[in-house]
Amino acid sequence: MSDANKALRLVLLGAPASGKGTQGQTLAAEFGIPKISTGDMLRAARDAGSELGKLADGIMSAGKLVPDDLVIRLVDERLAEPDAQRGFILDGFPRTVPQAEALDRLLAERGAGLNAAIDIRTPRELLIERATLRRTDVRTGQIYHLKYNPPPDSAELVHRDDDREETVLKRLDAYDTMTAALVPYYEGKNLLRHVDGVGSPSEVGQRIRRALTELTGVTSGGSARLEVSRGGANES
Ligand code: AP5
Repeated sequence: MSDANKALRLVLLGAPASGKGTQGQTLAAEFGIPKISTGDMLRAARDAGSELGKLADGIMSAGKLVPDDLVIRLVDERLAEPDAQRGFILDGFPRTVPQAEALDRLLAERGAGLNAAIDIRTPRELLIERATLRRTDVRTGQIYHLKYNPPPDSAELVHRDDDREETVLKRLDAYDTMTAALVPYYEGKNLLRHVDGVGSPSEVGQRIRRALTELTGVTSGGSARLEVSRGGANES
C-alpha cells in the first residue's frame, strides 16, 4: 500500500444530530487527522463577521443549505492545508450531489480519492432530542448533551441557534430532500456502510471502526494503531 492508500479519507453522512461531530472528534484524535466540519467553518465565519459569515448566518438560522459554490471553495482551501495531506474526516460535507461531485474532482486532482463513507442512521425522535439538548463548550469545541453527556460545571456552553426545535425540523427536511441522495451516490461507488446510531457514543464508535476496517483496512495511523478485529459484524 502506498502512503496515500494508508490514509483515511472519510465522509461522515447522517442527519442533523446523528452524531457525526461526536464520532468525528474521536476518530480524528485516534487517526491523527483533521475533522473538517463545514458547519464549524461557517459558524466561525459568522462569528468573525466576514462577508461569507453574514451570508451564511441567515441561511443557517432558517435551517436551509448554504450555496454549493461557497462550501466547495471552503473545503478546497481546507484540504490544501498540510495536516489534510495525512487524511481527513469530512463532517457535514458533502450535502448535495453537486458537492459530492465537486469533492471527487478536487480529490482526483490531488491524486487521492475517498476511501470510505459512513452513514449514521438514527430515528427522527432521537435526532430531535439530541439536537435540542446539545450544548457545546465554546472554549474547547467539546460537544455535550444535557441528558446523555452532561457538561462539567467549568464548561462555557453555547446553545446553537439552529438547535431550536422548529429549525431542527427544517434541517431534517433539508437532509431528506437534499442529502439523502448521497446514500445511493456512495453505494454506487462501493464506499458506503450504514451504521446504527442508536446506543452510547462508544457503541456507535465501535460499529464505525468495524465498518472502516472492512471498507479500507486502514488502521489509525502512526503511534495509535486501531485495535479492532476484522471479524466484526457487517453493519450494512
Ligand atoms: P452542521 O453543523 O454540519 O450541522 P448538522 O449536519 O445538522 O449536524 P449537527 O452538527 O447538528 O449534528 P452531528 O451529527 O454532528 O451530531 P453531534 O455529534 O453534534 O451544519 C449546520 C448548518 O450549516 C446547516 O444546516 C447548513 O445551513 C450549513 N451547512 C453546513 N455544511 C453545509 C454544506 N456542506 N452545504 C450547505 N450548507 C451547509 O451530536 C448531537 C447531540 O447528540 C450532541 O449533544 C451529542 O452529545 C449527542 N450525541 C451524539 N451521539 C450520541 C449518542 N450515541 N448517544 C447519545 N447522545 C449522543
